Amino acid sequence: MAQQDDVFKKIVSHAKEYGFVFQSSEIYDGLSAVYDYGQNGVELKNNIKRYWWDAMTLLHENIVGIDSAIFMHPTIWKASGHVDAFNDPLIDNRDSKKRYRADVLIEEDIAKLDDKIEKEVAKARKRFGDSFDEALFRQTNPRIADIAKEREELHERFSQAMNDNNLEELRQIIVDRQIVCPVSGTKNWTEVRQFNLMFRTEMGSTAEGAMNVYLRPETAQGIFVNFLNVQKTGRMRIPFGIAQIGKAFRNEIVARQFIFRMREFEQMEMQFFVRPGSELEWFRQWKEARLRWHKALGMGDDKYRYHDHEKLAHYANAATDIEFRMPFGFKEVEGIHSRTNFDLSQHEKFSGKKIQYFDPELNESYTPYVIETSIGVDRMFLSVLCSSYEEQQLDGGDKRVVLHLPAPLAPVKCAVMPLVKKDGLPEKAREIVSDLKFDFATHYDEKDSIGKRYRRQDAIGTPFCITVDHQTLEDNTVTLRERDSMEQTRVNIADLHRLIHDRVSINSLLRKLS
Ligand code: GAP
Repeated sequence: MAQQDDVFKKIVSHAKEYGFVFQSSEIYDGLSAVYDYGQNGVELKNNIKRYWWDAMTLLHENIVGIDSAIFMHPTIWKASGHVDAFNDPLIDNRDSKKRYRADVLIEEDIAKLDDKIEKEVAKARKRFGDSFDEALFRQTNPRIADIAKEREELHERFSQAMNDNNLEELRQIIVDRQIVCPVSGTKNWTEVRQFNLMFRTEMGSTAEGAMNVYLRPETAQGIFVNFLNVQKTGRMRIPFGIAQIGKAFRNEIVARQFIFRMREFEQMEMQFFVRPGSELEWFRQWKEARLRWHKALGMGDDKYRYHDHEKLAHYANAATDIEFRMPFGFKEVEGIHSRTNFDLSQHEKFSGKKIQYFDPELNESYTPYVIETSIGVDRMFLSVLCSSYEEQQLDGGDKRVVLHLPAPLAPVKCAVMPLVKKDGLPEKAREIVSDLKFDFATHYDEKDSIGKRYRRQDAIGTPFCITVDHQTLEDNTVTLRERDSMEQTRVNIADLHRLIHDRVSINSLLRKLS
C-alpha cells in the first residue's frame, strides 16, 4: 500500500512538472480540490472528450449533442430531487474543528480491517515461502475469520444506517468503533448533520429582486429539460440519445486524491430515451458498449470491473459503475443507470408542461424511459495518467520516465529534431514540421543532446520522435523512433504522414468500436 502511495505521489508531481495539472490559484496557496490543466493536460483532456463525443455522435445516427447553460431555473433542482436529497452526512470534531463525511470515516475503518487481513496473508506468505497456499490460508486461518466476521458485521450495520438515512446510528458507529479525528486524535464528535452539496449564488441585482440559482451538480438535467426541443427540432424517433459535455460543481467535503474528487469538474453524459419496458435490455447494451469504449484504449482489460449496485436510488431500476484500478484501489470512473421515467415525469409535474412522446408505431403517447451513461472527464484523465506512468530501468544503467499514453490521446503526436543545430538540418526539420502540423500536434526541438530530447518527449507521452541527420539531406530519409519500444527505423519523409496517422488518429479507436 505504502509503495502504491509513493507511485501516486510521483504521478501527481509528474503531472505538475510536465504541464498536465496545476493546483488552482497556486501563487495564493491554492484552492482546495480545484485544479487547472496546463499546456499538455488540456490537450490530453480535449482528446479524451473528442474520443467520447465522436464515439457517441459519429457512431450512432440516433445520438445528437447539445451544450446547455450551467445556470438553470432553480425549480429544476427541486424537481430533480437535488434540493432535498443531494446531501452528505457530516460530522465535526470539536477539538480540531475539522469537518468529515461520517460515511467516509466509517468506510476508512472498514478498509483498515481489509488491510489487516492483507497483512496477515503477507506475513504468512513470508513465513511459508513457496509452499504457501494462499486460498487455503484465507479460508482456514482463525485470525482472518475473526477479522472478516467483524468487517461483515460493521459493513452490514453501516449499510443499514445509510439505507435508513439514520444519522444517529452513523454517529453511534463512529463512537462504538472508537474512530478518532486524524488531526486532533480525539473522539470529541458533534452530531451528524446532512449537508447539501450544491453551490448556490444569486442572479440579478437585489434591487430587481435577486433569484437564488445553483451551479449545476450534473449536466444531465440540461438534457432532460431540452428533451422536447431536441426531439421536435431534430425529428428524433425513439430510441434516441442526447449527449453533452460540460462542467459540474459539487461542494465536496472530503476532497482528496488529486483530481479524483474535485469541486469543479467535467462530465460527459448521455441520456438515451427508450420505450417503457425496453429499458433493461438497453441498459444491458449500454453497459457493454461503454466497457468496450474503455477497453479499446488498450490500457489493460484487467484494470476494469463492473460494480453492480445492490441498493438502487428510488428512481432507478438498474445501475452499475465501471471501476478502474487506480494506485489507491478500484474506483468508479463511470456510472450507467436505468433512470426509469423519473426525471421527465418530475419536470412535467413541476413545469406544468406536457413532456411526452408520440410513438407512431404504437400509435400512443408515453413518457420515455431513460438509460444514462455518465463519466467524469477528470477521473478518466486520472485513470489514463495512472496506467501510463512508468519508471523504466534501461540497459546500461540509464533510467527514463515514460507515459505510455494511448497514442490517439497523447498531447503531442510527434517531435521533429535536427541532430545538430547546423549544416542545414534545422531548416530541413522545420520543413517537416510545416508539413505535419496541419494534421498532428507537432513539436520542434533542437535544444540539448538528442538523448535528453527523447527523454523530454517520453515524459509527456509523445508516440513518435523524428530525427533529421546528415543522411536526410542526401536521401530524404529520417529516423522514426517509437516511444514504447524505443526502436528506430529509417523511413522516407514521404511516408511519415501515413505511418504516424495509422497509430495516432482517434479514428483508429473508433474503428475498434463499430
Ligand atoms: N448524472 C449522474 C451523475 O452525475 P454521479 O455518479 O454522481 O452521477 C457521474 O457522477 C460521474 O461524474 C462519476 O462516475 C465520476 O466520474 C464523475 N464525478 C462525480 N463527482 C465527481 C467529483 N467530485 N470530482 C470528479 N469527478 C466526479
